[in-house]
Amino acid sequence: MTEDNREYRDMEWEDFHNLPVGKKAAFFNSDGLPYHTLLAQQFDREGLDELGTLATQIRRIAKSKTGMMFLQRLLAHKRAMLYFTQPSSRTFLSFYAACQIIGIQPAEVRDTSTSSEMKGESAEDTVRTFSSYFDILIMRTPQKAFAEKMAWLLSNTDRPVPIINAGSGKDQHPTQALLDIYTLQRSFEKLNGIDNKKIAFVGDLARGRTVRSLSWLLTNYRNVKQYFITDPRLQVPEDVLAELDRRNVEYEVAEDFKQIIPEVDAIYMTRIQEEWDRQPGESQEIDISRYSFTPEDLKQLKLNAVLMHPLPRRSEIDIRVDKDPRAVYWRQVRNGMWIRAALTSKTFGVDNEINRYYKVNLA
Ligand code: NCD
Repeated sequence: MTEDNREYRDMEWEDFHNLPVGKKAAFFNSDGLPYHTLLAQQFDREGLDELGTLATQIRRIAKSKTGMMFLQRLLAHKRAMLYFTQPSSRTFLSFYAACQIIGIQPAEVRDTSTSSEMKGESAEDTVRTFSSYFDILIMRTPQKAFAEKMAWLLSNTDRPVPIINAGSGKDQHPTQALLDIYTLQRSFEKLNGIDNKKIAFVGDLARGRTVRSLSWLLTNYRNVKQYFITDPRLQVPEDVLAELDRRNVEYEVAEDFKQIIPEVDAIYMTRIQEEWDRQPGESQEIDISRYSFTPEDLKQLKLNAVLMHPLPRRSEIDIRVDKDPRAVYWRQVRNGMWIRAALTSKTFGVDNEINRYYKVNLA
């Protein structure tokens, strides 16, 4: 934390939490880079480019045994705790594998029913206790802003450790958005990058945290138009659109999916998240079949377009679509591991060592 952050450190949590997101992002950064990674708003264009380059370097270095051994020595003195109290296997394993690639030893907490939280300890005390044993915490929780609160609390102690938000409530999932951006960077590498592209979000836009984080990251690019296509009951929250208005980003909110397919360069499909239903069965009333991608739809999709999904998928994308080269969701999964390894390396400041190794051995 820098000196400039002192004024925020003496605030109450609620007051801090209600600050404009830009101010909070500045608090969680250190020297312009994320110390804690909690919000998509902590990343600008330059940061995204650097992270993508670093992920590619790590990916290429990891192809050989000597390269892998170099990577695994980088952070062999560090330990990570993966605190995942919300169901997750893919994001959990993605972080686990990312830690292994750069030599960090991971430990895990998945179920707090065996910990002192059952003895009445607050989740805050539990996480602070656990943080004493580790050098970084990676957290997924169903509670909104819990990772943010822990980062705030730990930053006000004399032993802060960086926290990475691996999904918090319905609000943010910044590392999913980072891997989505990395996938778009790679997909459009020979097509002048992400600038000037049209991107459609489809499905549960009301509760999908990946959409909220990615929508914001896309505002870092020039002339990107965003489309939000779904049933009105699942439409994207107003605050996401207000942010786009504030940043002068062009967008369209619509219901008809099929009509939009030939227009866009990327389609980001999502599943219905009925675990957030306020009344049982609420989501079942909605005809989601209108928001599914079928093999027929491939004919309408531009030749250079990409079809994405954060996974897990249900019926939103027919499995017969998987073989088409424009279906990139399996590549997204793999990219997630590399971008998380890159982010964690950067958090610990070993990115320069990786750059140097890459330039000497592989460039
Ligand atoms: C998403 C999540 O958990 O927010 N999945 C993921 O991290 N890959 C989306 C989902 O659960 O549907």
